[in-house]
Amino acid sequence: MLIGREPEGGFKNGLPQKPLNGLSKQILKSFTKMPSSISDKKKHIPLSVPVMGENEWKYVKECLDTGWVSSVGSYVDLFEKTVADYLGTKYAIATINGTSALHVSLIACGVQPDDEVIVPSLTFIAPANAVRYCGANPVFIDCTQDTLCLDTERVAEFITNKCIQGSDGYSYNKRTKKRVKAVIPVHVFGHPTNMDDLAAICGEHSIDIIEDATESLGSEYKGQKAGSIGKVGCLSFNGNKIITTGGGGMVVTNDENIAANIRHLITQAKCDTFEYDHDEIGFNYRLTNIQAAIGVAQMESLEKYIHIKRENAGLYERLLSTNDCIEFLKEKKWAMNNYWFYTIKVSKNHKCPLIEHLLSNNIQVRPVWKLIHTLPMYRNFQNFTIENAVEAYDSCINLPCSVSLQEHEILSITNCINDYFANV
Ligand SMILES: Cc1ncc(COP(=O)(O)O)c(C=O)c1O
Repeated sequence: MLIGREPEGGFKNGLPQKPLNGLSKQILKSFTKMPSSISDKKKHIPLSVPVMGENEWKYVKECLDTGWVSSVGSYVDLFEKTVADYLGTKYAIATINGTSALHVSLIACGVQPDDEVIVPSLTFIAPANAVRYCGANPVFIDCTQDTLCLDTERVAEFITNKCIQGSDGYSYNKRTKKRVKAVIPVHVFGHPTNMDDLAAICGEHSIDIIEDATESLGSEYKGQKAGSIGKVGCLSFNGNKIITTGGGGMVVTNDENIAANIRHLITQAKCDTFEYDHDEIGFNYRLTNIQAAIGVAQMESLEKYIHIKRENAGLYERLLSTNDCIEFLKEKKWAMNNYWFYTIKVSKNHKCPLIEHLLSNNIQVRPVWKLIHTLPMYRNFQNFTIENAVEAYDSCINLPCSVSLQEHEILSITNCINDYFANV
């Protein structure tokens, strides 16, 4: 399959429900177009496609041959151990996808209905939805201009000025009177959030940090792997991620009780495997052995993939460096970015025409997500000083980023961008 996932928001069956930001319907159709012939294939450059090697086939075959195809099996155990060892966490629990990983992490951290959870407005929608699955309420906070990740200064301002500390040590939102129980920093497009600053403010106010590291497997903050820093970290192995199991996720943590609780929750809260005794309402959120087998093979290539992604990011930047109309998101000194997605910024008036130009040249690019606090089901939740995310929404474009992307394809893409600016 050539397209990792259908673009989120406003699309149905691969087509936009409404024209997006003035992009013409015809052009938008080409956004999801599949190459129909070999010659077409040559020209089409997809946004993100998975790469499968020999061991993926070999390990899956082993599952099929032995009948270990379902939600227990040696590949599930091995996948969990491999990821835990790689991230340096004591525990890893494989889940059916990244969204379910976020959902059970929130429950295991004690998020209750009516609690509040701080979420960035600029992110894929899953963390906000996971908060709502718990009956809790998101509070949307801005991103920084340079990393696109949660602005920790804004988080501190919100906690300090808009909340009051209760006698139980928790922070309560002065306006809603609700307890602020957790925060979900998303390491957007692979760049880590400023975790020390976040930990400082959260530590003082008993706010649990649930890292959404779904886009940042292998990225580092001050030498520590993304996902391994907060109370729990959540990963995704969706088809468009740096490694994939088709669909899949994982929770990582150093907390034994949380790990046990999550394993229990994702197994329908089963206490007894003979009589099927259950002690609470659980979920069927386990990853299958077949998916885990793909994951084990993909993990063997992760370091190579990160290397390729970082090289390609450098190449994009070099080839566009003479173009004054383009800005890059720079890696912070304290960060190592896996460059899951490559992002350029252009001025607001160029975003849609440039996207249209690239799509019409068979290069699949996309705008960043619509800001969550502007979506109908989230409009009535509190948002706190969102300015940088609006600017990012107006200016950011994601470029093709597959591990299989070739140098000549990057050259075609950058030539196409430079041509656009040469003719406006
Ligand atoms: C930031 C973010 N959080 C959560 C998810 C959810 O992961 P999944 O699609 O595996 O449920 C994704 C991506 O898919 C994501 O990009």
